[in-house]
Amino acid sequence: MNHDAIAVVDFGGQYAHLIASKVRREGVLAEILQPEDSVESFKKYKGIIFSGSPSLSAFNEDSLYNKEIFDLDIPILGFCFGHQEVAKHYGGKVINGKKEWGRADLHILKDHPLFKGLDSIQQVWMSHNDTVSEIGEEFEELGYSKLGKNGEPHHFAAIGSDKLRRYGFQYHPEVDDSINGHIMLRNFAIEICGCKPTWDMDAYIKDEINKVHKQVGDRSVFLLASGGVDSTVAAKVLGEALGSDRLSLLHVDNGLMRKDESQRVLEAFKEMGLGNNLHFVDASDDFLSALEGLVEPEDKRKAIGNCFVEVFEREAKRLGLENHLLGQGTIYPDTVETGGTKRADTIKTHHNRVPVIEEMIAAGKVVEPLADLYKVEVRELGEKLEIPHDMIWRHPFPGPGLGVRLLCSNGEVNISQEELNKFTAAAIEFADKYNLKAVTLPIKSVGVKADLRTYEHPVMLHGDANWEELQEVSGLIFKSIEGINRAIWNLGANLPTNFKLLPATMTKERLDLLREADHLVMDGLTRHNLHEKIWQCPTVLVPLEIDGVGKELCIIRPIRSARGMSAVATELPLELLSELKESVLALDGISGLALDLTSKPPGTIEWE
Ligand code: XMP
Repeated sequence: MNHDAIAVVDFGGQYAHLIASKVRREGVLAEILQPEDSVESFKKYKGIIFSGSPSLSAFNEDSLYNKEIFDLDIPILGFCFGHQEVAKHYGGKVINGKKEWGRADLHILKDHPLFKGLDSIQQVWMSHNDTVSEIGEEFEELGYSKLGKNGEPHHFAAIGSDKLRRYGFQYHPEVDDSINGHIMLRNFAIEICGCKPTWDMDAYIKDEINKVHKQVGDRSVFLLASGGVDSTVAAKVLGEALGSDRLSLLHVDNGLMRKDESQRVLEAFKEMGLGNNLHFVDASDDFLSALEGLVEPEDKRKAIGNCFVEVFEREAKRLGLENHLLGQGTIYPDTVETGGTKRADTIKTHHNRVPVIEEMIAAGKVVEPLADLYKVEVRELGEKLEIPHDMIWRHPFPGPGLGVRLLCSNGEVNISQEELNKFTAAAIEFADKYNLKAVTLPIKSVGVKADLRTYEHPVMLHGDANWEELQEVSGLIFKSIEGINRAIWNLGANLPTNFKLLPATMTKERLDLLREADHLVMDGLTRHNLHEKIWQCPTVLVPLEIDGVGKELCIIRPIRSARGMSAVATELPLELLSELKESVLALDGISGLALDLTSKPPGTIEWE
């Protein structure tokens, strides 16, 4: 079916795709285009949205895109940077200053189709340094923003020209904190652009099945099926498209799985009727040798991704399936976090986006029916395909598994004690105000700030405080101390004073310890009925001896999220924490236990 569609111009960052996702949820197909795409390629769309941009300034990007796009007789709506571009093009002015961060109230000045169905004051989300200070003659101000009753008004938060069909919002309607942003997106697509809302999950399934037919032709697919939500839904879609005879599944035990995971996955696949051509290989030794001696997160990730391809090819040959295409349950964040869109930074290389796989994709040898979707959408699709509830609502588990939750080290601390002390002194200034103590750890973890990858130190906080206070102090630390991207809360009795970083690589012994700790945490969440309330809860081991005791600091990271692109750290009940203190600290080799307090950004969900 041909759908009316909106083009979203990706001016960069991690969030442009969110706009497309939100428009699709309003029933209108939206697709991502690049600023340098030809003006011709925009002609088939009924509307165009300009995304914001984290890395560009509205002042110096004259050559970024072809301004002839403004000559098209198609409505255009810009957000943030995009809004400033629209204003400038039609004679407005943009100045550096009058920043706004976070929540603000939009005061709507006019009964306008863009705001159909909405009250005149709307909570919106702002994140900008530059501001529109004047608008062109043909434009009018549709709304201004201000923070609370007494805030100063920021003009031109929403602007438009109905004659030209050009509009701009300084705020980000795509972000969940712009409470009715989705209604404004729907109003643009339907009221202004005249799109018919024909896109839904049923339409997606039909379109995807057509695409799979086109790509696969009369060949077959061999799908890497970890048993996670994504690969399971991908298996169902491919099964519907090709029939079970032309779909084979390979479940690899890479030695980085949770306790008893492979056994459980194989049984679940059989129960779902996907057991026909289901193959299993225990490749733990291959993965352990590929990881031998590696300590850097990106090296580990790439070794794991490459090993998947080697094992896949070996198994395909052994089973006589060499001519099959490789199937993967890749979803959109895997691509964007690997820097797989033009302007996005590589936050981390996802296992299904290593260079050998990119080459296979370019050669048309990879089928990925979920590559445009976020986790929320994958789950919705899974429900449509009648996949059992428990399978769909399992916590996301990354392809590299425990490999990215078991930190490794060559034992060398690459920061001086003076520098660590400086971080600690800066953190203590904030911690003191909350009667907390603080110390900086001599290890690093991956994070993301202003859409760019970071690899920085965590601060450990110690003392009695409630969750809001812990969140507040961590927020102040991140905002003020350059070089810190994580905060953890010590669950041990005293603030540790002596950390010794130990040489440690990926060994079966360490993995077994992590499996055990992870099992205790997951079991605790289930017992406390928290499994579905918490989106994901990695358990991490860091090779630190603390005050002469043990070898591994264990960190629990419960978070809430919808798409995995941003996340908030989540409180665990005190009763569960004290149970975990007892059970995890009793494991042989554990030196301490802490709870991760970090939102994403500035931390990522996984530590590596
Ligand atoms: P981060 O750590 O980037 O994770 O905040 C966001 C979400 O992605 C998952 N993740 C992965 N999933 N392959 C995957 O299939 C990977 O290489 C990978 N790395 C991270 C992570 O568990 C979280 O849900």
